[in-house]
Amino acid sequence: MSDAMRAVERLSAPVGTTLSRFIVQEQKHFPEALGELSQLLADLSFAAKIINRDVNRAGLINSDGGVGGQNVQGEEQMKLDVVADIRFARALQRGGQACAIASEEMENFIDAGNHESRYIVALDPLDGSSNIDVNVAIGTIFSIYPRKSPIGTPPQLDDVLQPGTEQVASGYVLYGSSTVLVYTTGRGVNGFTYEPSLGEFFLSHPHMRTPENGRIYSINEGNWNDFPAGIRAYLDGARQRKLTARYIGSLVADFHRNLLKGGIYLYPPTVKAPSGKLRLLYECNPLAFIVEQAGGTATDGTRRILEISPGELHQRCPLYIGSKQMVEQVQNALKDTPEPPSQP
Ligand code: AHG
Ligand code: MN
Ligand code: MN
Repeated sequence: MSDAMRAVERLSAPVGTTLSRFIVQEQKHFPEALGELSQLLADLSFAAKIINRDVNRAGLINSDGGVGGQNVQGEEQMKLDVVADIRFARALQRGGQACAIASEEMENFIDAGNHESRYIVALDPLDGSSNIDVNVAIGTIFSIYPRKSPIGTPPQLDDVLQPGTEQVASGYVLYGSSTVLVYTTGRGVNGFTYEPSLGEFFLSHPHMRTPENGRIYSINEGNWNDFPAGIRAYLDGARQRKLTARYIGSLVADFHRNLLKGGIYLYPPTVKAPSGKLRLLYECNPLAFIVEQAGGTATDGTRRILEISPGELHQRCPLYIGSKQMVEQVQNALKDTPEPPSQP
């Protein structure tokens, strides 16, 4: 073969499978599907591309910093929290396939106006937002449910308050050293890396599986004195076994690393947050669906996360998520040492 032909061969190598093509191919496994879920995933990935652009330019376009107020949960709201919230809501409203949207940044769910559509979306538009201003990885988490109320009618709160077992899809985007989108529709987990020069996500992590056991534990150890005794006992054991401590403070980033490498992420109840800090509907449930699909486990210490019936939209719950054996060890430690967190 001549040099020129070799160059042609190299230059015309396949670029890989785009997310949009993958979604369409996946739809074939659901004969009853009408393409609505595919459209929803496309809308979410489009909004993620815009957020990715905004996140990458934070610091240049005055998009870093806070808005000077708090969200409904009393947390400082960053500009990009609000921007991401608006962008995802707009993409979903205009896409026409979401009848209701629940978000960390909104007190109540919103009726997206698409009463003929079948799906509810719950999301954390920007996760780890305290890391925005310091150029550390942040993310987006989403969860999709089929509605319970009849098609053609306005969505109800009960449509949003469903246990995680009812999810038809969930996923996250990690705006990190590269940007990845990972999702499941219950047929395993697949990850896609964003190629900025083409403006497309490409399949980079097919059939993701998490190791049964791992060596990484991720927890905010600054809360040590507030932890339940069982968690302190588990952490003592982890130190004795010389496990590796890694904590970014962006759930998506900590979760993604542990999913790939094997590990556990823990957010126990504390005195300040007696039910834990993380929110069931748009943080715990979507990641629990993914971790289970990848062969891992997610519990609140006693219950499978996906089986918890939510009573309210911004409900919090403790979270122990990751490699099966590590989560099991935490559950055993909590059983063996059942005291609640100490009081201040
Ligand atoms: P968010 O930015 O969406 O409010 O989420 C922050 C969460 C989560 O991403 C992270 O793992 C956790 O808060 C960190 O909490 P601590 O600062 O208490 O460790
Ligand atoms: Mn979050
Ligand atoms: Mn958030």
